[in-house]
Amino acid sequence: MYKPKVLLTHHNFPQSAIELLSEKFDVELCPTEASKPNQQDIINNIPGKFAIFCCSPIKINEDLLKAAGPSLKVVGTMSVGYDHIDLEALKKYGVRLGNTPDVLTEAVAEIAVGLLITTTRRFFEANHELKIGNWKTFSPDWMCGHGIKDSVIGIIGCGNIGTSIAEKLHKFNAAEIIYTSRSEKSAMKAIGGKLVNVDELVRKSDFVILSVALTPETKFIINKERLSKMKSNAVLVNIGRGDLIDQNALIEALKEKRIRGAGLDVMTPEPLPLDSPLMNLDNVVLLPHIGSATIETRIDMAELTARNILAVLENKTMPCEVKF
Ligand code: DGY
Repeated sequence: MYKPKVLLTHHNFPQSAIELLSEKFDVELCPTEASKPNQQDIINNIPGKFAIFCCSPIKINEDLLKAAGPSLKVVGTMSVGYDHIDLEALKKYGVRLGNTPDVLTEAVAEIAVGLLITTTRRFFEANHELKIGNWKTFSPDWMCGHGIKDSVIGIIGCGNIGTSIAEKLHKFNAAEIIYTSRSEKSAMKAIGGKLVNVDELVRKSDFVILSVALTPETKFIINKERLSKMKSNAVLVNIGRGDLIDQNALIEALKEKRIRGAGLDVMTPEPLPLDSPLMNLDNVVLLPHIGSATIETRIDMAELTARNILAVLENKTMPCEVKF
């Protein structure tokens, strides 16, 4: 029996999603190096496919959509973010888009809180010092950081993830939680959160957390000028996208100790080259974009991506369609 084809950009998407798709689709894995999908291989293999099941770093752009031809009806990205997807091009080629919000909210919020604590309490440096034998005795001023209690926490972008971060950190007895958003959020009001603008937020916060989508408006939302307005004891945490921060300006600020530290789950580029100056700074904690990387969350994301794609084939409402 003829089945339409879906192309999977990576070889290691969770099996349960592949099984869901296989009921209705002929599933093809892109013949590329499993751990390192290649844009050109995807372009070579997209012609004639009904759907593409993808995630970053594959770019869904005009070149790819043109190569796909008229059979391509839907892009399912296994991510909440879709900055790797050219929406104008999708519109032009009449292709729909599904993404995976909500199912990853808690996992990403946990990473934000973890990074914040790890950075402010200097976990990685302390762990390193212990392992190289520098822990000689209890020492009153050794490896001291700052706590969250009585601090001002600033969250840039208060969607589901930002709100969940705020709710978690609220339990740490911060003095104040401030946030930016297009409008006041009732969930934030319920925990005493105060809506402010970005400049006020960076000036007042001891912890600045970026949890906003990357768009032309938010690119470099933390730039040299805003870094210079941050408190000298401030810690910057980014769980959104690398380009929310002017990374060169951040490197300078960290080198000159103009802020206390940064915890980054995302950076530019990804993977970060080993010779990046960020690698040698002891006041930065780097994670390899693992915000949503719990086993259960990745399974939920993959199954939701599969259901988004199946819905288009079956002419049903997509569980999570990006409208543009
Ligand atoms: C997302 O879902 O956007 C995460 O950052 C993974 O890319």
